[in-house]
Amino acid sequence: MGAYRDRTIDRQTAGRAQADHGRYGPATFAVSYRAQGGRKPRRAPCARRLSGPTASKRRAIALAHRTGINVDEAKHTLQTRQFFDAVAPGWTARYTQDAAVAARIARFHDAVQTRLSPPASILDFGCGSGDIALSLAATGYTLTGFDLSTQMIEQAQRADTEQRVAWIARGKQGDNLPFEDASFDAIVTSSVLEYLPALNVTLGEFVRVLRPGGWLIATVPDMRDPHRRREHWFRTVLTLPGVATLARHSRWREGAHYLQISINRMAAAAWQERLQASGMTPEAWPEFTGPLLMLVAQRP
Ligand SMILES: C[S@@+](CC[C@H](N)C(=O)[O-])C[C@H]1O[C@@H](n2cnc3c(N)ncnc32)[C@H](O)[C@@H]1O
Repeated sequence: MGAYRDRTIDRQTAGRAQADHGRYGPATFAVSYRAQGGRKPRRAPCARRLSGPTASKRRAIALAHRTGINVDEAKHTLQTRQFFDAVAPGWTARYTQDAAVAARIARFHDAVQTRLSPPASILDFGCGSGDIALSLAATGYTLTGFDLSTQMIEQAQRADTEQRVAWIARGKQGDNLPFEDASFDAIVTSSVLEYLPALNVTLGEFVRVLRPGGWLIATVPDMRDPHRRREHWFRTVLTLPGVATLARHSRWREGAHYLQISINRMAAAAWQERLQASGMTPEAWPEFTGPLLMLVAQRP
């Protein structure tokens, strides 16, 4: 696997929320003017440290406290939500303007239809603007669409003029899915698993909410694709000092943000191991077809 080893942030740093809160918690750094000889104190060289964490770090700490996840994961979740909230208004257009994106719908249809008949109940995890879920619902399946981005869910709701799908935005429950055990016959998840900092936790939740015999059908980046190898190179460049900051103020802003949040890159065999470790039985992975690898696994 080499450079494509699993880059998942896992929960070993749990407890960092508390530690960070302790570090940045209530502290008084006020220095009286009199002690400075009546002059306005000069800004300390490490003013940012003295004034505590940045606004985004504070939001991450608050989220970590609410959900019980660690600060790194909370920060990643906020960044992912911000990214997809921003691109949500134009997401459906990708399905009409880009043939490769449009092909996702047919690919998921085929994978579902060869395994399940309507009205089987399906969760579209990370449904985005709902394009795949709406298409499956139109052929008689019972759909629930779930997403981290409230803007994506709003887009999906607007597009669902016949109200066929139950749309749910991820709330304050952290990585736990808001569904009863054994609720679904299948979970489809198109280009989402690569964004999950706590991948193992979510795979465990998939097993919990799938019925025995239920299917997980997922697409993830295929590392055999040259485009993915270029991404890997760009990601390395972004780790050089100052490059990420420069990129944030350039026309590569969106690409840099994407590389920052799209963290899980693994060879097909490593994905299979993850699925197996979570309690599912993976099918053999298919031949190379392009930038997206389709993984299929069944809950025993
Ligand atoms: C690349 S988009 C794919 C959207 C849709 N599945 C499609 O193929 O058009 C990834 C989606 O995953 C969602 N997502 C990312 N992390 C998530 C999480 N932890 N829980 C639920 N959704 C998540 C994002 O908000 C975004 O809508």
